[in-house]
Amino acid sequence: MTDHLVLFMPSGKRGNFATGTPILEAARQLGVYVESVCGGRGICGRCQVETQFGHFAKHGITSEQSSISELGAKEIRYAEKRDLKEDRRLSCSALIMGDLVVDIPQDTVINAQVVRKDADQRVIERNSAVRMCYIEVEEPDMHSPSGDMDRLIDGLEKDWQISNPRIDSHLVSEVQSVLRAGNWSVTVAVHQETEKSQAEIIAIYPELKNEAYGIACDIGSTTIALHLTSLLSGSNIASAGTSNPQIRFGEDLMSRVSYVMMNPDGREAMTKAVRKSINELIDQVCEDSGIDRHNILDSVFVGNPVMHHLFLGIDPTELGGAPFALAVSGAVHLKAKEIDIELNEGARTYILPCIAGHVGADAAAATLCEGPHRQDEMMLLIDVGTNAEIVLGNSSHAVAASSPTGPAFEGAETSCGQRAAPGAIERIRIDPETLEPRYRIIGVEQWSNEDGFEEKAKEIGITGICGSGIIEVIAEMYLAGIISEDGVLNGKLAEKSDRIFEDGRTFSYLVKEGEPRIIVTQNDVRAIQLAKAALYAGVKLLMDKQKVTSVDKIGLAGAFGSFIDPKYAMVLGLVPDCIVENVKAVGNAAGTGARMALLNRDYRREIEKTVRDIEKIETALEPSFQEHFVNAMAFPNKVDPFPKLEKTVILPPREMNSVQRKQSDQTQQSRRRGGRNRRPR
Ligand code: FES
Repeated sequence: MTDHLVLFMPSGKRGNFATGTPILEAARQLGVYVESVCGGRGICGRCQVETQFGHFAKHGITSEQSSISELGAKEIRYAEKRDLKEDRRLSCSALIMGDLVVDIPQDTVINAQVVRKDADQRVIERNSAVRMCYIEVEEPDMHSPSGDMDRLIDGLEKDWQISNPRIDSHLVSEVQSVLRAGNWSVTVAVHQETEKSQAEIIAIYPELKNEAYGIACDIGSTTIALHLTSLLSGSNIASAGTSNPQIRFGEDLMSRVSYVMMNPDGREAMTKAVRKSINELIDQVCEDSGIDRHNILDSVFVGNPVMHHLFLGIDPTELGGAPFALAVSGAVHLKAKEIDIELNEGARTYILPCIAGHVGADAAAATLCEGPHRQDEMMLLIDVGTNAEIVLGNSSHAVAASSPTGPAFEGAETSCGQRAAPGAIERIRIDPETLEPRYRIIGVEQWSNEDGFEEKAKEIGITGICGSGIIEVIAEMYLAGIISEDGVLNGKLAEKSDRIFEDGRTFSYLVKEGEPRIIVTQNDVRAIQLAKAALYAGVKLLMDKQKVTSVDKIGLAGAFGSFIDPKYAMVLGLVPDCIVENVKAVGNAAGTGARMALLNRDYRREIEKTVRDIEKIETALEPSFQEHFVNAMAFPNKVDPFPKLEKTVILPPREMNSVQRKQSDQTQQSRRRGGRNRRPR
């Protein structure tokens, strides 16, 4: 029999197949994921593909109309009942007749749900841990008196080659009625964590059940974000978020750990609070999308180590001090009901592994999403919060650490700092000649010197400076010469501009008069210096471990990273030197990583391996941390050059401190001596 070349797009996987091979079968053999719920009976429509015709020179293949069989009976029947677009075929029915290019569409949304934009809409290749398997079970017969469940298991083996599955206990009492309700046709939801692990029947529905959902949830210390996703089409159906109710027990992580230490019921109260919020978010996404929570069969959670422990009901006290021991660092597999998450009775939960005592499952998810371990370039991934989680690496090696940045970047600890909310200054520019500022606030399009700003700002009110605004104002003050590279406000400028004024024993910069009066004090500058020095020192330790002096790419994750201007982050020396265009906000990378792990079990194995391979660095134990920290107190840095940044921004000339001056003198002297003493060759 002749073999034909078949190319699957977008994966590019290709192989040779005999005439008459169903496209679905060819895809399976090549490991190309094509959904199928009905097992090739032509009734679920999940296996749709598109054929591409023409000459594809790049791939050396000519695909023709005659390379695929005519519409078969199953397809005609399906097209009559449902809508099968003209260019679509059911891959379980269409046969390979010649060389063929097949496109796997990523939008096979049978029930036409509304797709929300809140989640990152990247296409995630699917191979979820839960499969929906339609079977027609043999009816009971007096001559072969086997039980309903046994005949169902036989059907699963025959049609889906799934043998010896475990059965979730709640189904034993349900199987009888479901089989009869479905007139002996049922759809079985099978959970299987890996190809080789034992399968488990987790739900049984009467007749064809052509939908199954999962949730992916990022439990942040400040906010919880949850996405409802179709396991069959991969589309995000609805998203919802809320603030973390644990805030009432403590603003930051360490105060929550202290709360547990001081209060006997503290851990339980916080565990209950976060689980309750998650259940409410599930209510919300189900209501928004009209989906029954009993159709949610899988769930993935990520969070920093303290959030991870509290969610699982583990005492986080050990994470409050050295050696920052995690109770469990590997991935956790559970039934959702075991942790009081209200989904389908048999629904499963997967929690990504934590990288280290301070670098959690959220950092693992961000790593999975951005994939430093999948690329040759040296990538730095930073999630800035009260504790910055940092991963630096490429395909050969990755290292990770965390740095105690404190809450200054989130608008706390500074005189006019506030959370990012309408009315907060988020962008600012200072004229280096006049030292006059112009700024933009959240909620108003115009800059403060543009028409229309006054009226709109009056409605909202100008209330303070948020994290990204703080970075910009201090960077602009440095670029305008208002503060020195050591962070000292230059009082002499008070003669030149009323914006600089004496404020106790130091000077401050006036951003805005009125109520509230917004100023940047010497203490504010110090708070940012301390935070950015902690972050940079952590990054620098990782760079030392990797033996690099600059990085190729920087990804800034999380809410703060999404709004910060990369150029200003570098001017302040928050991140190391890099080509400005290669510094990018990567948005909610942790949430997207969680969705990836939900939709494709291979990603779970990938991140488990990556986390095992990542070298963990404990910043507190590294002797050079202090030195890096001290150098990083300066803008952008006392010792590290920023040549790539200087191609875009003119930095003020560097000052030399007395130690550097001495070192420089010594170097010059030794160079002169070296020149004199060098032996002639
Ligand atoms: Fe169900 Fe093809 S597998 S229609």
